[in-house]
Amino acid sequence: MTETPTLAEPLDVMIRLLSFEGKQNPYPLYEELRAHGDLVRLGETHLLAVGHEQISKALRHPVLLQTDAAMQDLRMPGWREHSSWVWLTRNMLFSNEPDHERMRRFFSSAFSAHSVAAFAPMVERLADDAVRHVGELGAGGAEVDLVEEFTYRLPIAVLGELLAIPEADLPGLHPIIAAITTSMDPVGDLAQLAPGDAAMEELAAYVTDLVATRRAAPGPDLTSAFIRALDGSDLTEQDLIANIMAVIVAGSEAPQDLLGNAVRIAVGDADLARRLTGEPRFVDRYLEEVLRWDPPVHALNRVASEDLEFFGEKVVRGSAVTLLVAAGNRDPKRFADPHRFDPDREGNQKQLTFSAGAHYCLGAALARLTAETAIPLLLRRLPGLKVVGSPGFRDQIVQRGHDRLPVTTG
Ligand code: HEM
Repeated sequence: MTETPTLAEPLDVMIRLLSFEGKQNPYPLYEELRAHGDLVRLGETHLLAVGHEQISKALRHPVLLQTDAAMQDLRMPGWREHSSWVWLTRNMLFSNEPDHERMRRFFSSAFSAHSVAAFAPMVERLADDAVRHVGELGAGGAEVDLVEEFTYRLPIAVLGELLAIPEADLPGLHPIIAAITTSMDPVGDLAQLAPGDAAMEELAAYVTDLVATRRAAPGPDLTSAFIRALDGSDLTEQDLIANIMAVIVAGSEAPQDLLGNAVRIAVGDADLARRLTGEPRFVDRYLEEVLRWDPPVHALNRVASEDLEFFGEKVVRGSAVTLLVAAGNRDPKRFADPHRFDPDREGNQKQLTFSAGAHYCLGAALARLTAETAIPLLLRRLPGLKVVGSPGFRDQIVQRGHDRLPVTTG
């Protein structure tokens, strides 16, 4: 008699996914979930979306809302005691209309594709500095942590220049940003928010000081421009501070993880490294495939603001709908042979990694420009770059990436 393999219960798969080991390689676990369908019920009030179509529709659905203050009251009673979520719900990402649109309008032109194109010379200069820095540290065969010295260093240097954050402050912001991103992971107990709460308060104090300094002595930077634009706008001082905080966190951690994954994949494959340094048109396609295949963001959340039916499932008001974008990016109905890393595949830009709908990433153009500039430059200038050992991933799933990426430069 042949044995029929039994399907693991979705809740058991989720428990394994949320373990440290699960987060090291969640992709087989997404397939265990997909075996239950594109939309998987975890309980009365919790659904998981793993299909590309379901995630894409959920992101554009008028009743599935961001976890703003009203939605958090439904999902996470007690959150108001936690500075991490108090500040998160003040920014555009964790807001719904009309507040979201009001804040997004204020900041959007600064990060539009048109504005970002003008940042190219600055990004090239900073990428050049960061590559030189890695080369100097690695001279003589020394091991270098590419996360601290390059994949964090470059995106935060770009933000530092745009927002007028003094260079000396940039390394100190890293642990603060890292702790804040842990607040977005699922928590079993609100006490787990403590590190994120403390870090959020530090960042709020830092950005409040930055705004005061630029108000007293304005310059050609975006912080000064935002302060000037505040008068006569429909934003409050607190909105300004909350959204500058969001730009600092969102604009550093995910780009860090994209750069880390893009380097790790390229240095393991001589053909990819050769094409990245010799075929300028290949670079975008490569990065789109990295964003699809091993994305920096694995999960997003939405909450049902009313009862609805979604792909045949009854969803009651207050239900959480977790969108596993990294699973959607490997949906075989959307991408042929989805587990294969193939930068030449057609349509890899249909990946869901920058979200979709109203909250589509405000910094996508800046993230792409930074990675397109940095990756070929690093590989060209340090052709002997090698990853040492098997680097692990942080104990996080919403924002997933390497905590350390030890390399030698040859
Ligand atoms: C590879 C790099 C990046 C990735 C993967 C990424 C991913 C995302 C995702 C998935 C969302 C929407 C989340 C949701 O729908 O719930 C988002 C929103 C956002 N991102 Fe990014 N991001 C990246 C880089 C950046 C950068 C460089 C900035 C700096 C300006 C930035 C600023 C923002 C902001 C302000 C929002 C909120 C937009 C809104 O709510 O309308 N991101 N990002």
